[in-house]
Amino acid sequence: METFCFMFVSANFLLLFSKYSNATENITLSDSIIDGTNSTLVSKDGKFEFGFFSPGKSSNRYLGIWYKAIPTTVVWVANRRNPISDTSGILMMNSTGNLVLVSGNKSVVWSLNLNKVAQNPIVRLLDSGNLVLRDEKDTNSGNYLWQSFDYPSDTLLPGMKLGWDLKTGLDRRLSAWNNPDDPSPADFTWGIVLNGNPEGYIWKGSVKYYRSAPWNGLGNSGSPSLKENQLYEFSFVDNENEVYYMYNLKNKSVISRIVLNQTGYSRQRYVWNEETRTWKLYSSVPRDACDAYGLCGPYGNCIPTESPVCQCLKGFTPASPENWKSAFWSDGCKRNNLLKCENGEGFVKFVGLKLPDTTHSFVNRSMNLKECRVTCLQNCSCTAYTTLDIRGRGSGCAIWFGDLIDMRLSASGQDLYIRMSASDLEAKVEAKVKIPVIIATTIAIGFGMLIIGYYIRRSRANLREKTENKENDDQEQDEQPEDLELPLFDLIAVSNATNKFSIDNKLGEGGFGPVYKGTLEDGQEIAVKRLSRSSGQGLKEFKNEVILIAKLQHRNLVKLLGCCIQGDEKMLIYEYMPNKSLDNFIFDQMKGKLLDWSKRFNIICGIARGLLYLHQDSRLRIVHRDLKASNILLDQEMNPKISDFGMAKTFGGDQTEGNTNRVVGTYGYMAPEYASDGLFSTKSDVFSFGILLLEIISGKRSRGFYHPSRGLNLIGHAWTLWKEGEPSGLIDPFLEQSCNLSEVIRCIQISLLCVQQHPEERPSMASVVLMLGSEKELPQPQKPGFFKDRGPTEANSSSDKLESNSTNEITFSLEAR
Ligand SMILES: *[C@@H]1O[C@H](CO)[C@@H](O)[C@H](O)[C@H]1NC(C)=O
Ligand SMILES: *[C@@H]1O[C@H](CO)[C@@H](O)[C@H](O)[C@H]1NC(C)=O
Ligand SMILES: *[C@@H]1O[C@H](CO)[C@@H](O)[C@H](O)[C@H]1NC(C)=O
Ligand SMILES: *[C@@H]1O[C@H](CO)[C@@H](O)[C@H](O)[C@H]1NC(C)=O
Ligand SMILES: *[C@@H]1O[C@H](CO)[C@@H](O)[C@H](O)[C@H]1NC(C)=O
Ligand SMILES: *[C@@H]1O[C@H](CO)[C@@H](O)[C@H](O)[C@H]1NC(C)=O
Ligand SMILES: *[C@@H]1O[C@H](CO)[C@@H](O)[C@H](O)[C@H]1NC(C)=O
Ligand SMILES: *[C@@H]1O[C@H](CO)[C@@H](O)[C@H](O)[C@H]1NC(C)=O
Repeated sequence: METFCFMFVSANFLLLFSKYSNATENITLSDSIIDGTNSTLVSKDGKFEFGFFSPGKSSNRYLGIWYKAIPTTVVWVANRRNPISDTSGILMMNSTGNLVLVSGNKSVVWSLNLNKVAQNPIVRLLDSGNLVLRDEKDTNSGNYLWQSFDYPSDTLLPGMKLGWDLKTGLDRRLSAWNNPDDPSPADFTWGIVLNGNPEGYIWKGSVKYYRSAPWNGLGNSGSPSLKENQLYEFSFVDNENEVYYMYNLKNKSVISRIVLNQTGYSRQRYVWNEETRTWKLYSSVPRDACDAYGLCGPYGNCIPTESPVCQCLKGFTPASPENWKSAFWSDGCKRNNLLKCENGEGFVKFVGLKLPDTTHSFVNRSMNLKECRVTCLQNCSCTAYTTLDIRGRGSGCAIWFGDLIDMRLSASGQDLYIRMSASDLEAKVEAKVKIPVIIATTIAIGFGMLIIGYYIRRSRANLREKTENKENDDQEQDEQPEDLELPLFDLIAVSNATNKFSIDNKLGEGGFGPVYKGTLEDGQEIAVKRLSRSSGQGLKEFKNEVILIAKLQHRNLVKLLGCCIQGDEKMLIYEYMPNKSLDNFIFDQMKGKLLDWSKRFNIICGIARGLLYLHQDSRLRIVHRDLKASNILLDQEMNPKISDFGMAKTFGGDQTEGNTNRVVGTYGYMAPEYASDGLFSTKSDVFSFGILLLEIISGKRSRGFYHPSRGLNLIGHAWTLWKEGEPSGLIDPFLEQSCNLSEVIRCIQISLLCVQQHPEERPSMASVVLMLGSEKELPQPQKPGFFKDRGPTEANSSSDKLESNSTNEITFSLEAR
C-alpha cells in the first residue's frame, strides 16, 4: 500500500527530473521533491539550492536551502523542529496548493500556513535564496502567498527583512541553531522591538543581550560604524506598514551572510573567500564588554578604553559605591541632585553616546529639537531627548521616560540631552559664560592690532581686495535693494555732507562700520553708516539691515532715509539723532542728571513699544538680537529710537523661535539659552530688554558691574535686593529725589520677570507694555538667568576686571559649531 502510494505521487516527478538532470527551478501541482533521489530545486543563477540534507554529523533529514557551491552552509531550514529520521520524506504540493512535507508513515511533518487557495500555484527558488509560492493567475509577479524570507532561521541574507509587517502582524526574527548538528531554534535570538522608538535586540533566552540602539537616519548609534563600507549598504524602514532592517550587497557577485551563532553567542557577518574556499569573519557583535546590555546600569556610561569600563555620567555617582568598586555595576548611578520637576530644570548635552534603551520612549517626526525640549520639559517623567534623524541639520524628536540604561561611548554615538536639576545646571551655565567673556576681550585687544596690521597689509592686499570686492559686487547684483522703494543717495552728496567722511564728523562705530554725522545741502541732518570695506560679515549685515528696516515704520525705531550704493561704497542714511545714544546719558554721572525718572520711564515705555512693534505688529516678525543701551538713540525730545538692525532676524508667520549656529550679540545682554545654545526668540530680546531696564534704573552697566562685597553681577545684585525686600537699593542715587518709588519698583519687578532663566516664563513684549501701563498686580519673578551668587574664581575675576576696563561694548559673533 505504502509503496503504491509512493509510486503514484512520484510518477510525474521522476519523469520531469530525469529530463532536467534532477534539479529544477519550480515546483508545480504535479511535481514533488523526494528524499533519496538527489532531486533539488535550484535558483536560476545556480547560487542557491533547496532540498533534503543532513546537518553536521547528524543523520536526521531536513528540508532546507543552502549555497549550491557551499553545500555545508545551510541558510534556511523548513522542518527545524521536526526532523525525519530516515530518507522517506516527500515534499509535494497538495490539491489546495499547499506545500506539504510528509514522512514515510504519511504524517505531515511540515506545511505552509496559507490562508488562500491558489488556482495555479507554483513554488520557485529565487536568486536571492528566497523560496516563494505564488499564484501564476496573479498578474502581480511580486505577490507571494508565502515566502521563506518571512520565516528566517539563523541567517539573514541580503534583501531579507528583519522585523515587522504591521498589517499582518508578522514578526521576522532570527534564532540560532542549537548546534551544528541540530538546526532546531536555540534561545539565542535577534529581532526588532516596537518600542516608542523601534530598535533591534539580541536575546539570550528572555534576557536582553545586545541592543543596536534606534535608527538615526544613517545607522544605529550602537552599531560598529556608520562609515561607508565596501561590502554592503543597509536601511531601516519605519512606517505605518512596516518596521524592518535590511541590507544589500554592493557587489552582487560577492557571497556574504549574517548568522546568529549559538556557540559564541554572537551575531556574525561572513564573506566567502572563493580562493581558500572558506568563510571569512567580516564583523561580529558584541564587539567588547561595553556591548553587553546594560553592563553599567542606569546612567552608567561604558567607556571601553577606561578602567574600569563603567563610569557614571557627569552629574551622577554610583548608586551602590561598594558594589561599584567591586565591579558589580548593574545598580548603575544616581543623580547628585534629584529631579523635583520644578522650574529651573533643564538639560545637559552629552555627546558621542549610544542612545539609551527606548523601551520607555516616544517619538514625533514633525517636532524640531526646540519643540522636543519643551515637550520633554513639560512632562515630569521625561528624562532625555534628542534628534530622531541626524541627517542634515537633524529633525524629529525622540524622548525618553524614566531611567536611562545601556549607554556607551561609541564611534557612531550621538548627542543626548539629559534632564538635570537646576543646581546641576547652574554650575554648567557659569562654566559656559566664561567662554564668551574671553572671546569678547580677545576681540577688544585684537582690534587694536588689526588696525595696525591693516595699514601694513593694505598695499600688498590691494590687488586681491579689488577682485574680492568685485566678487562681492557680483553676488550682490541679485539682491540689490532696488525694489525696496528706498531713496538712493548720491555718493558725492553724502561725501560732501559728511565733509568727505572727516574724522571730526565721526559719531561712533556701528555694527558693521563707522557712523558719520552729515548735513545735506537742504540743511537736513543725517547719520551715515558706512560699511567698512574690509568687513566680509558686514556686507551680510548691511543687506540685512537695508532689507529689514526699509519695511519698518515706527515712532520708536530709527528712521532710514535711504541708502547709497556706488562702487565699493555701501552706506545707510538715517535721520540724525542729536542726543546720540542712551548709554551716553545713563552711565554718565553728569549727563545722567538730564534724565530724571519721568524721562527715563518715557524712554522705557518707548523702547517697549518699539520692541513690541518688531515682535508682533510689523509686517515681518523680527527679533532684534542686539538690544542694548548704545543701540537706543534719543531724538531732540529724548524719545527713544531702536537702531542697528544688522543682527536682526525675521520670522515667518507663526514661527516664534529659531536656532542659529552663529551667535551674535553683546555679552551682558544675551539671554542664557541664546548665549549657550544659539536659541533665539522674541523672548531673548525680552531678556535683553530686562537688562536694559535694570541699567536705566541703576545707572550701572550690566557688563562690568561687579558688587565688590557680595560678588554679584547686576542681575544677581538686583535679584538679591529683591529677595531681601530692598529693591530700592538698586535705584540710581540721583533718581531718588525725582522718582515715583512705586513706579520704579514696579519697573524693577518687570525687569526681573524679563530676565528669568526660562524663556517661556518671561513675559511677551505685549504683556510688558501692559504691565508698564497699568497698576495691576504683577507675578513674582523666578530666579533669573546668568545669576551669579558666588564670588568669582581667580580666573574669572581677572577676566571680569578686563571687562570693566573696556567701556566699549563690542558686538561679537561666535561660531557655535
Ligand atoms: C518551471 O521552470 C522551467 C525552467 O525554467 C520553465 O521552463 C517552466 O516554464 C517553469 N514552469 C512554470 C509553470 O513556470
Ligand atoms: C545521489 O548522489 C550521490 C552522490 O552524488 C550518489 O552517490 C547517489 O548514487 C545518488 N543517488 C541517486 C538516487 O541518484
Ligand atoms: C493541503 O495541506 C494543508 C496543510 O497541511 C491542509 O490544511 C489541507 O487540508 C490540504 N489539502 C488537501 C486537499 O489535502
Ligand atoms: C510517523 O513517524 C514520526 C517519526 O518520523 C512519528 O513521530 C510519528 O508518530 C509517526 N506517525 C504515525 C502515524 O505513525
Ligand atoms: C565583485 O566581486 C567579484 C568577486 O569577488 C570580483 O571579481 C569583481 O571584481 C567585483 N566587482 C566589482 C565591481 O568590485
Ligand atoms: C560560530 O562561531 C565559531 C567561532 O566563534 C565558528 O567556528 C563557527 O563556525 C560558527 N558557527 C556558525 C554556524 O557560523
Ligand atoms: C507631533 O508634533 C506636532 C507638532 O508639535 C503635533 O502637531 C503632532 O500632533 C504631534 N504628533 C504626535 C503623534 O504626537
Ligand atoms: C508623561 O509621559 C508619560 C509617558 O508617555 C505619560 O504617561 C504621562 O501621561 C505624561 N504626563 C504628562 C503630564 O503629560
